[in-house]
Amino acid sequence: MPNGSVDQAVLNKAFYNWPYFGDFKYSGFALLNKITDDDTVIDIGCGCNPFKGKIKNLIGLDPANDAADVKVAIQDYETDQKFSVAFCLGSLTHCVAEEFEERLAKVVSLMLPKSKIFFRVHPMVGNGMSTLPAQFTDLPLYRWSPEVMRRHAAKYGYTVIDMQDEFHPEAGVKRTYIEWAR
Ligand SMILES: C[S@@+](CC[C@H](N)C(=O)[O-])C[C@H]1O[C@@H](n2cnc3c(N)ncnc32)[C@H](O)[C@@H]1O
Repeated sequence: MPNGSVDQAVLNKAFYNWPYFGDFKYSGFALLNKITDDDTVIDIGCGCNPFKGKIKNLIGLDPANDAADVKVAIQDYETDQKFSVAFCLGSLTHCVAEEFEERLAKVVSLMLPKSKIFFRVHPMVGNGMSTLPAQFTDLPLYRWSPEVMRRHAAKYGYTVIDMQDEFHPEAGVKRTYIEWAR
């Protein structure tokens, strides 16, 4: 196990039945404009599964939310199905670097050659923790950067086609939206 690795059971407790955090400008329901009925979509860390009923071919996966279609962590998910779109909205970065890379590799293994991956990540202000609720203070957080995300994308043949900060006025939080395509 990597040094400082996250205990998924503790993380699941922190995220148990996490409510819909809010409709972010780019990584909220605006994503529906980027999906067609031909897409097969996997929402990884779907929380309360907000896209259910709004996207035709959708699987919402989450280890800590009863609203998920499949209640499992991405690293433990087994399927032969391949997807044209993955959402990783606030769900992949609650871990150390080695775990992030493993989880990312697992996500990519589920994708069709022509596919898109959409991310929402916390901003790297200070240690990143200042933007998260108190129950996450003692949990790890992946220290991403735009350059590193571009390198990860290129490793798997993807290009970062969009990366923008988004501010959620009601929740008062800033996040970053990232879109990969290949
Ligand atoms: C910040 S919430 C975001 C929920 C939802 N995507 C949204 O936008 O409202 C992060 C979610 O990731 C889930 N999660 C945590 N670790 C995960 C893992 N290893 N695999 C898949 N999902 C995970 C949590 O249970 C939680 O529901």
